[in-house]
Amino acid sequence: MKIGVVGCGFVGSTAAYAMVMQGVGREIVLVDRSQARAVAEADDIRHAVPFAHPLEIRAGAYADLAGSKAVVICAGVNQQPGETRLQLLARNAAVFAEVVPQVLMHAPEAILVVATNPVDVMTHLATHFAKQCGLETSRVLGSGTTLDTARFRSLLASHCGVDSHHVHADVCGEHGDSEVLAWSLASIGGMPLTEFAKRRGVELNQEIRNAIDTGVRRAAYTIISGKGATYYGIGSALSRIVDVILHDQRAILTVCTPAPFVAGVSDVTLSMPRLVGGDGVLASFDPPLDADELAGLARSAGVIREALDSLDV
Ligand code: LAC
Repeated sequence: MKIGVVGCGFVGSTAAYAMVMQGVGREIVLVDRSQARAVAEADDIRHAVPFAHPLEIRAGAYADLAGSKAVVICAGVNQQPGETRLQLLARNAAVFAEVVPQVLMHAPEAILVVATNPVDVMTHLATHFAKQCGLETSRVLGSGTTLDTARFRSLLASHCGVDSHHVHADVCGEHGDSEVLAWSLASIGGMPLTEFAKRRGVELNQEIRNAIDTGVRRAAYTIISGKGATYYGIGSALSRIVDVILHDQRAILTVCTPAPFVAGVSDVTLSMPRLVGGDGVLASFDPPLDADELAGLARSAGVIREALDSLDV
């Protein structure tokens, strides 16, 4: 099956590389405003194929996206040291106004997977363009807090001495400073996190919780200050999302997609646990958060709604 990746910077090229290494798809088309960049990334990643899984990867134009089952949109600028994701909004909204209509025109059957930040707002904007083309909004989703959820699970796993695959813990809301770590719903081995920690003699006091929260919430800033960008985590998250779509799995992922009413806010795009399959978002689940977490989700929804209002969408 065919996958398109639009925007071949750090994130888009790493996502394509992750798909090759994980055997996601049969054909990948890389599109970038710099054809030279797209060709170079395709050539470089193609040399990994003999060490991984057989597939074709090539550079192309928007027209080459035709027939894609999923198109990942990574086009736009990324955070500079100290910059928030929301500060990218105006520049990337302008990029999306050019890119998304082209993708929808050439690949109307594709599921759109948005990664460009601020991803919640950009996903809402992409859905706006999709609606104008008469497409189902469920066919547009964003990586949302899938990466933050992975970071949360990774830190909890490390602290509790288990592999992260056995930790169920989600981050909801904005993929950004206002995100909400759903501590009250976290579980390991079928036990509530607190019960597991007690049985394993693992401390989970407020200081430790605050450290984990900061480790998740500030991860991108810390990494960007050290190497200028993040791409392995988000590239792997995108590969996972595309794999779910291509193989029509039934995965619960904290992707973002527009919702009519969340935490007291109307018409907003943010992340919560969602059932994802071959047709995109199949179902959304309002997590039974505790009072503090629900208040945090309302604040997060308000932050995103305010950003959307600035775009008048
Ligand atoms: C990060 C970018 C993808 O959180 O927003 O690493």
